[in-house]
Amino acid sequence: MAETRPLNHDEMLAVLDWYRAAGVDVAVGEEPIDRFAQRPPQRVMPVVASANASTEQRPVETLPLGGDPSEARSLAASAKTLDELQTILGSYDGCGLKLRATQLVFADGNPEADIMLIGEAPGAEEDRQGKPFVGKSGQLLDRMLAAIGLDRTKVYIANTVPWRPPGNRTPTPEEMALCLPFLNRQVELVAPKLVMTLGGPAMQTVFSTTAGIIKMRGKWSSVTIGNHTVEAIPTLHPAYLLRNPPAKEQAWADLLALKVKMSSVGLG
Ligand code: URA
Repeated sequence: MAETRPLNHDEMLAVLDWYRAAGVDVAVGEEPIDRFAQRPPQRVMPVVASANASTEQRPVETLPLGGDPSEARSLAASAKTLDELQTILGSYDGCGLKLRATQLVFADGNPEADIMLIGEAPGAEEDRQGKPFVGKSGQLLDRMLAAIGLDRTKVYIANTVPWRPPGNRTPTPEEMALCLPFLNRQVELVAPKLVMTLGGPAMQTVFSTTAGIIKMRGKWSSVTIGNHTVEAIPTLHPAYLLRNPPAKEQAWADLLALKVKMSSVGLG
């Protein structure tokens, strides 16, 4: 029979070590939740027209962990303001990332700003505070912005997905596709004059490309995000710069390119 005595100190440390090795790096509640005891997601049984014009029910192959992109598009389009968009996203349950996140990480900075920065996804600290780029990479981002005379009163910051992916993994293409209508609407409502993307996944989403960040960084292009056409430049992600300090030289060149472009469009 299984022993039920309380764990001693060393055993508790061993359990924590085991959790860390399994990718659990943040505790989000006082009470444990037994996910295995919860009801599994139900298969969707849509009504489909058969060849003989009667109707039959057939299970869909994929489980509804992700929502319907057209629903996401119409919800996003219905938002007339950023506040409305935030409220709509807050009650949107179509993206599975929400299940594991502590809270929505919508945006930070100035919604009236002419410059918008788009990152990849919230990390652990962002998940805790509900704001993008407030962890270590956010602190580096603040220093990068300061180096060209910017701060969070002069930029607006959002991410391609507004919920933290478990263990900080890269969001899947499906998760990004579901969140894209909301990002598109966010860009339409902010209507920035310039956009800078941070890191490969944000660049690939905004520039609709599969090219790598090393090839694409530092080049301006005109992109249409939602119905807003804007000049955009990709740069390296601050988290990458923390891991690869020599790459800061390239990021610095991109920041200077942003500064030059700001002058050329009358932004100081
Ligand atoms: N990395 C991102 O891409 N976004 C954040 O908000 C934080 C870290």
